[in-house]
Amino acid sequence: MTPWSQWVTDQCARIAGAGQWRRPRDLDAAGPTGSLADDRAERPVVSFASNDYLGLTQHPAVVAAAHAALDRWGAGSGAARLIVGSRPVHTQLETELAAWKGSERALLFPTGFAANLGVLSTLATPGVRVCSDELNHASIIDGCRLGRGDVRVYRHRDVSAVDELLQGTERSVVVTDTVFSMDGDVAPVDDLLDVCARHHALLVLDEAHAVLGPTVDVAHGADVLRVGTLSKTLGSLGGFVTGSSPFIEFLVNRARPFIFTTAPTPADTAAALAALRVLRSTEGDALCATLRRHVDRIAPGHPSPIIPLVLGDERRALAASAALLERGLLVPAIRPPTVAPGTSRLRIALSAAHTDHQVALLAEALQETVGQAA
Ligand SMILES: Cc1ncc(COP(=O)(O)O)c(C=O)c1O
Repeated sequence: MTPWSQWVTDQCARIAGAGQWRRPRDLDAAGPTGSLADDRAERPVVSFASNDYLGLTQHPAVVAAAHAALDRWGAGSGAARLIVGSRPVHTQLETELAAWKGSERALLFPTGFAANLGVLSTLATPGVRVCSDELNHASIIDGCRLGRGDVRVYRHRDVSAVDELLQGTERSVVVTDTVFSMDGDVAPVDDLLDVCARHHALLVLDEAHAVLGPTVDVAHGADVLRVGTLSKTLGSLGGFVTGSSPFIEFLVNRARPFIFTTAPTPADTAAALAALRVLRSTEGDALCATLRRHVDRIAPGHPSPIIPLVLGDERRALAASAALLERGLLVPAIRPPTVAPGTSRLRIALSAAHTDHQVALLAEALQETVGQAA
């Protein structure tokens, strides 16, 4: 038998041989502008790759709230929520997340990834037909695997395929990103609500990237759970789900990624609470308007801050990313296995923290390096 260390070394060589080797690069930055450590040296860059869509990681009220929570409760929460890890700030954030989403209740998880695992491993269980969009996020795919329901993957955004899959089912779940993380396009949420209501299916919506929409009709009447993250628009770390009381109570008592893990840190939680308050204020409206303007500058009318520039060939995407980096613009190339072969792309992520000048530089650089706007 090959020893483990040899097996792992061989696997690494295979990944590298396929040109898919990846490693973290440190970006010394507070906001989009910073210094990137790569093979050659430190280089100043403007990043177009983060999920800090409104720039709230740097907002003074958000940072101050984290400081205050550290001073009041210390660095860690020390236990799971159901033991002694729950602080008033967790409950306060859950109350305000529920109000924001127009739901009865909310429940925090350590990350958005864990929120999807928690919801799906608890509800998409054996005997349940689970319909999942083919471009759903990895955390949804893994949640479906953990749940061990009867998972059917449907063609991207295909509501009639969902309708067919739901025919004659007893208990069923439909799960989708509302903004798809590699394509930046949006799910047909209204149609999915209708089809789920008709078949009495539970609709699970992952709104991790839904800063500019789509909106969800909370008065629709279908059973809906809305998963979100504190780690993107809300500038902190953590995840959550909102829904009606019985669903949330059930998750509190059955969702293993909630029960058997330490409560989110008070500082992360307080930061997210402060960020949520900014988001729901007129300042939040202004930040969203700025983000909308930046998106329209690069891809008029595009529904989200994630703009893919599909170039096809892996080498073309890598070359385009390298050419932009030479100009100090950090736009990652996304390649298989993250996306399907032949659809390698630049993935541009915009933020309200970018200046108009930075976005103009990006638009110009895209024209000159890949010869097209997004
Ligand atoms: C669609 C989607 N869902 C869930 C997650 C996980 O969120 P978190 O980073 O909070 O774990 C991500 C993060 O990349 C995502 O893109």
